[in-house]
Amino acid sequence: VTPRKMSFGINGKLNGLESKTPFLIGVSMGTASGKSTVCKRIMEKLGQVDMDHMQRQVVCISQDSFYRDLSPAEKLKAEKGQYNFDHPDAFDNDLILQTLQDILAGVKCEIPAYDYRTNSLYLLCYINHVLMDFRMKDQITTIYPADVVLFEGILVFYFPKIRDLFHMKLFVDTDSDTRLARRVPRDIKERGRDLDYVLNQYMNFVKPAFEEFCLPTKKFADVIIPRGADNTVAIDLIVHHIWDILRLKKAENSSRQHPYIYQHRRT
Ligand code: CTP
Repeated sequence: VTPRKMSFGINGKLNGLESKTPFLIGVSMGTASGKSTVCKRIMEKLGQVDMDHMQRQVVCISQDSFYRDLSPAEKLKAEKGQYNFDHPDAFDNDLILQTLQDILAGVKCEIPAYDYRTNSLYLLCYINHVLMDFRMKDQITTIYPADVVLFEGILVFYFPKIRDLFHMKLFVDTDSDTRLARRVPRDIKERGRDLDYVLNQYMNFVKPAFEEFCLPTKKFADVIIPRGADNTVAIDLIVHHIWDILRLKKAENSSRQHPYIYQHRRT
């Protein structure tokens, strides 16, 4: 993948001949199914992970960055494990739609990281005994126009308007036991929860919402990946498909930059 030089207009749109519609891939399935690992493997195989954001031709965004801000009452509920983070309304779906439309239009976007410990896009901390809210500036990912954009999350195929934007829809099919066995230690180690909290949240919200809202969206998938990131054959096939798209786009771009040569070749 060759690095590119980019310049942007005041509206955040890419200047010049490079403006283009990226190929948008949705990756979905229930919690701890390995969605982000599948996306990481795809990016690794394309040699994208250690690359500067601006040079990347394949980028990955998480739906978790679009959790709605909670009201003080909702925050209290969340702290007690009584808030449903697995319901479609937990996300700012208008912002998801707008962001994906901007990405498709070649507009540079800023995506904040989500903090599961504080249940917010803000980092809460005490300075001199005063509780301060900081938006995690260093945790904001700028998405520059890319050739391929992966968007992963538990409910990315739920709303038809969002679902219809994807050029390709992947569903990571990992069984519930495996997912629960991964979620428990992850939430305790990485998300600052205790065992009771994790199991109660799972039984009261995560499992019922998965069955009601996530699993029925499997029928919209173009490709179902059994066993998630362990399925190297499926990931290789997807990566080959992405390579084909990148090659085609490169050919289209160079023909736009040299229209005479292109016309000449076609006649
Ligand atoms: N969640 C939570 N607390 C929050 C926000 C979200 O417990 N403040 C949980 C929700 O219950 C939801 C899950 O986070 O089930 C969504 O994240 P998940 O899909 O598990 O994370 P990924 O790392 O994307 O999962 P994967 O292993 O599939 O990559």
